[in-house]
Amino acid sequence: MMNTNIIFQILFFGLVTVLFGACDAGVNDTGTEYAPNMYHAVSYEPLIQITDEDAGEWVNSDDNGYGEYFSSNPNNPFGMNMRIPAENTVPRNENGMLPYRLPKDSIELAARIMKNPLPDTDKILEEGKVLYTKYCTHCHGANGGGSMDETALVGKVYQGVPSYSSGATSRLSEGHIFHVITHGIRRMGAHGSQVQQEDRWKIVRYVQTLQKQD
Ligand code: HEC
Repeated sequence: MMNTNIIFQILFFGLVTVLFGACDAGVNDTGTEYAPNMYHAVSYEPLIQITDEDAGEWVNSDDNGYGEYFSSNPNNPFGMNMRIPAENTVPRNENGMLPYRLPKDSIELAARIMKNPLPDTDKILEEGKVLYTKYCTHCHGANGGGSMDETALVGKVYQGVPSYSSGATSRLSEGHIFHVITHGIRRMGAHGSQVQQEDRWKIVRYVQTLQKQD
């Protein structure tokens, strides 16, 4: 009968060998995958482009004639999985909005022509308030009083953040406010990359209610 100690040693060294073997991964090598068909989608993966038809052949579980890792669409140019958008088309977001194209220095034009595409409803206003609280309150204050507003913690440090309801600021048009949120103005930074277009228009709605305050 074999000594259990020796069996343990054999199992132990076997395990260590397997473990270290599995660590051999690099930039172009993901190492050994356990049950690879759990990771490789049957459908085309838009961001994966593997053109070698035999890639992963040894672990293939499909009967499509390709290796397990092969991922290319032979019906597209260059076997790409992504489709090239039709020429002269413009992307719209999920709400059907076109990208906002006016550059920073077109603020006067924006102020004149840009109109809020969202309906004037309580729901939009409520959502605008939530967004305003997240993105603007720390500088402009919950009541839009600017640096004088007690809740404008950052705004106090900044100083000179205008109150929405005073003077010329109370008369800024919706297009102007939208443009300012998108591109920033003077000492205020741009928020276009952080707040999506539809949300910026919601914020505009809420800011307009603050403009009317005394
Ligand atoms: C980091 C602080 C900061 C944040 C955050 C901020 N602002 Fe401002 N905002 C300012 C400052 C400072 C000014 C004054 C800019 C100047 O005139 O130099 C200003 C000015 C404005 C003006 C007046 C522009 C004009 O033409 O006079 C509007 C409208 C405005 N902000 C809206 C917003 C909205 C809406 C948000 C949230 C999406 C926001 N701001 C976020 C600091 C901020």
